[in-house]
Amino acid sequence: MADGPLLADLHFGREDAERDVTEGLLLRGGFLPNAAYRGALSGRKMLIIGRKGSGKSAICMQLMADGEGGHHGGKVLVTPDEAAGEEIRRFELQGLPGDSAKALIWRYVFAVHAARYVVDHAKGAPDGGHKTDTVKALARFLKQNGEAAGGGGRLVERLAQGARGLQTSLSLEAFGVKANIDLAQSPSEGARAARQLEIVEQGVAQAFADLGCDGAVHPPLLLMVDQLEQVWSAEPDSNSMVIGLLLAAKHAASLYGRSVRFLLFLRADIYDSLSFGEGDKFHGDELRIAWTEQALKDLALARARASVGGELTEEQLWKELFPQTVGGEEITAHLFRRCLPRPRDAIQFLNACQEKAWLDHERDRITEADVEQAGRQFSEWKLKDLTSEYLVAHPFLKNLFPLFQNTGYVVTRAALARRFEAASQTLHHDFPAYANALTLPGVIDVLYGVGFLGVRRGNDVVFVGDDGLPVQPHESEFQVHPCFRAALGATTAFDLRRYEPQSVDARISAGDFSSGVSGSSSLNRDDRLLMLVTRSCHSILAQVGRAVGLTRDVRDEITTQINRVLDETNRRSPGSAASAGADIDEYLFATAHYFTELAAQLRFAGLEENTGIGDVVRRVEEEVRRLRRAAGGSFGSSGDSSGY
Ligand SMILES: Nc1ncnc2c1ncn2[C@@H]1O[C@H](COP(=O)(O)OP(=O)(O)OP(=O)(O)O)[C@@H](O)[C@H]1O
Ligand SMILES: [Mg+2]
Repeated sequence: MADGPLLADLHFGREDAERDVTEGLLLRGGFLPNAAYRGALSGRKMLIIGRKGSGKSAICMQLMADGEGGHHGGKVLVTPDEAAGEEIRRFELQGLPGDSAKALIWRYVFAVHAARYVVDHAKGAPDGGHKTDTVKALARFLKQNGEAAGGGGRLVERLAQGARGLQTSLSLEAFGVKANIDLAQSPSEGARAARQLEIVEQGVAQAFADLGCDGAVHPPLLLMVDQLEQVWSAEPDSNSMVIGLLLAAKHAASLYGRSVRFLLFLRADIYDSLSFGEGDKFHGDELRIAWTEQALKDLALARARASVGGELTEEQLWKELFPQTVGGEEITAHLFRRCLPRPRDAIQFLNACQEKAWLDHERDRITEADVEQAGRQFSEWKLKDLTSEYLVAHPFLKNLFPLFQNTGYVVTRAALARRFEAASQTLHHDFPAYANALTLPGVIDVLYGVGFLGVRRGNDVVFVGDDGLPVQPHESEFQVHPCFRAALGATTAFDLRRYEPQSVDARISAGDFSSGVSGSSSLNRDDRLLMLVTRSCHSILAQVGRAVGLTRDVRDEITTQINRVLDETNRRSPGSAASAGADIDEYLFATAHYFTELAAQLRFAGLEENTGIGDVVRRVEEEVRRLRRAAGGSFGSSGDSSGY
């Protein structure tokens, strides 16, 4: 494309679908038809449920666009704004429970949209304005009620008008109904509104039938509702608003049959927090958006290609523009493991990498350091975003993060219990309404549910969405999702004290050689003592190796520390510069002391005995005894057999 470096053009698009359509890549080859899209297009599913940023609006936008393989029939997108939400929330009918009242107003919205479509559609019919009586009646109805087809008007105004009509009376003369006469017997405001609405809906259904729009001749009208979260809050009325929408869509779908298809795009946190009697009737309509690492990788490539314009191979993207590995980990694994599985995260992280390299450093390829820097920034964004995503459902979420700050990312139930215990009083004080959720199991459920914690199952760590099972009471080991680790300062698996050898160099330069300068027998003793430390390290490492039930990250962390001891011991081997003047006994005691601490930390972590951790702890403690005895001078024996 341009003459400049490829990296300058590389871009992964905008992070929300609405802007991605106008100034991004979504409709320029950046859209990936996923299972959710196919499900939505096929018409088998009515509820498309996904987390924030999972691609609900993207599906919506793609369906609204007239692209190849898209929906070719009529389409209407309803996106309530705050004002419209307020109108719906306020809508009440005497004699009807909240959910049902809200359902009526939604049904009215659907009926009017469908009516406008029918009238329009009849105009554009091939035989030039072939209009049946029912279509004419609909057109009259729309006009008399200020809903004329083609007339713009914001949703909120239409809603206000509809609400008034339903609460008092709509003009139904177009359908041959004399207001106030036919409806006079209605026992309540609610019953009367329902009766009026039925007349309108019948009129619409009849017009569809008369025009032969049953989905066979041409594709049905697609009626979509997105961005409900704009009007969502924790108040009961917002619940009713969404439940009403679900009930209305179900009702209307069966009423209009194959003439109209409904698609509701709902955020998972909102949908999952609803509870209503009819809830079970919707499971068959649900489609949850899920993303795998591979799918995100495909998405990244599609977007990268769309941005640079020309041909871009996978090789070029992941080996030339991006560094092949980061910290020894293959690049795509590194990137996508650090995202929650949804396109917005991937797009943000990838763009951040490009910006670090190109904008900040004017490089023409992304380096490992760029990815790492971008990763830290991304981690901070995501921790913040998680808080705001769940502000309505779990407002206390942010206050749980300190439980995971500056410690290892592997957390056992026992360790969490201790930390939670210490914090629970403050939490209960700050969030009195959430006392039920603020228990240890409650908090674990929430943290697992939002994708913050994964749970150890067998040799895997499972995050929400990987399988449907919630955390079981016997499960006791968790991990903070890699996405949040950098922001929390939890970048090592386990909070083991790092082994720091004391520096002997200071003493050497101070000229204090007295303790170490001795004859060959002493050197021999030092030699043997150091060998003993080496042996201890190896036997601990071997024990760790046998603890196959231990999470790999934890095993690696212990191994790292023991290897540091080994390195230091080798550095002190006789004859080396570091050995001169060094007091080996002191070194031995220091090492034994470190091992003691290590054992205590491992024990305290509360890992399950069946992971093999108990054996490791006992082995470390055994080595401590052995080292202490040896340093104490009992060199008559190997130090192995005595005392057991
Ligand atoms: N199937 C897809 N193919 C390509 N890009 C996608 C796809 N799905 C989502 N995206 C992109 O991912 C980003 C986030 O998607 P989108 O805005 O649709 O999320 P959302 O579920 O509507 O989130 P929110 O709940 O915040 O509205 C957008 O840039 C969008 O273009
Ligand atoms: Mg959206």
